[in-house]
Amino acid sequence: MSLASVMRSEEKLLLPTYDRHKILFERGRGVYLWDSRGKRYLDFLSGIGVNALGHGHPAIQAVLKRQAGRLIHVSNLFFHEYQAELAKRLTKISRLDRAFFCNSGTEAWEGALKLARILARTSNSNGHKPKWRILALENSFHGRTFGSLATTGQAKYRDSFAPLLPGVRFVRFNDVKDLERKFDGSVCAICIETIQGEGGIQPISPEFLQLARKLTASTGALLILDEIQCGLGRTGRYFTFQHYGVKPDIVTIAKPLAAGLPLGAILTTSRVARGMHPGMHGTTFGGGPLACAVAIEFLRILDDLLKHVSEAGDYFRQQLQELKSKHGCVREVRGMGLMLGMELDSGDTAKAVVTELLQRGIVINRTHETVLRFLPPYIIEEKHIAQLLRALDAVLPAGTSKPAKQARNSHKGVKQ
Ligand SMILES: Cc1ncc(COP(=O)(O)O)c(C=O)c1O
Repeated sequence: MSLASVMRSEEKLLLPTYDRHKILFERGRGVYLWDSRGKRYLDFLSGIGVNALGHGHPAIQAVLKRQAGRLIHVSNLFFHEYQAELAKRLTKISRLDRAFFCNSGTEAWEGALKLARILARTSNSNGHKPKWRILALENSFHGRTFGSLATTGQAKYRDSFAPLLPGVRFVRFNDVKDLERKFDGSVCAICIETIQGEGGIQPISPEFLQLARKLTASTGALLILDEIQCGLGRTGRYFTFQHYGVKPDIVTIAKPLAAGLPLGAILTTSRVARGMHPGMHGTTFGGGPLACAVAIEFLRILDDLLKHVSEAGDYFRQQLQELKSKHGCVREVRGMGLMLGMELDSGDTAKAVVTELLQRGIVINRTHETVLRFLPPYIIEEKHIAQLLRALDAVLPAGTSKPAKQARNSHKGVKQ
């Protein structure tokens, strides 16, 4: 099948939701992908943080084959062997108590918001002032369904779909004063991505996260962390919050959990879980035997990869910093572990760099207009990073993309 014929059919048959690159990928192995013309690409995006073990990992293939031959789906009306086992592993590494399995990031986030409302409702049944408001962060991204959109602090995702879920207020990113001002006894949850991904690889500051923990603890509100992009080893620990010494009431995860199969999860405490009863929440597909069996295998392999993620991430980040000193168009390098971003001084330059790299056989993407995003598989090696850096060095303009004054102005509003 040719790229041209697929493009023609999609144009006629699909909802026009995606502006895809004109590449038809056919297969992958390790850190490489091959397109329909046989061209090889080094994968520094891993399907937006999903293929953490790269492509065609033999242990994942073996579990997939074995489990596909035994049982793929039974629904949540019945037991199967793997949900409890997977929950056991996830609660052990997160030090939380309970799990709920679903299909995607946005579905995990919706469930987390529902848990916050349920707990608030049940703990306010004695007639106290209702605690139902949610604080979310400007510049955040939590998914495309209505609750997720309502807590996503970027107009471009929200505005076409208003009115959204009521009761959500946005706090300026990393602004502790704004958080203090907006928090009161009517708030049932503070929602934070530990590192904003779609917002341009922006880590939350320790002061902000610690304050959010302190405020929520003082009223019994929940601290909900979205680690759908930054969790499960991406930053060199099982969870990014573990770098901060802060424990949330709920964390949501998804992307790499089942090594490419759709699987999301909510992890939470016993206190929060008490509000939930049979029939209040559920899913047909979520937590099926195939995805859960694969996720157990993913977590087994992850144990031995965390150190490598940290080391490779440190090397990668340091090398990106060196490129910054050579190229005037680079504003900042941000991120942790193998979740890194390089902010340029122009969206057009960032777009051109992505296209140039694709032509040179390297897959990255651009997020938040001006940020080159790197989310390679955890198995990436120094030699691959060096290859990307050589290509970046060749395609990044040496000077600034714009006159200095204009570039300074366009930087306004991008927070660190
Ligand atoms: C931080 C974060 N939350 C939620 C989501 C939504 O996940 P999904 O696309 O699986 O619904 C994403 C997806 O990019 C994300 O990065």
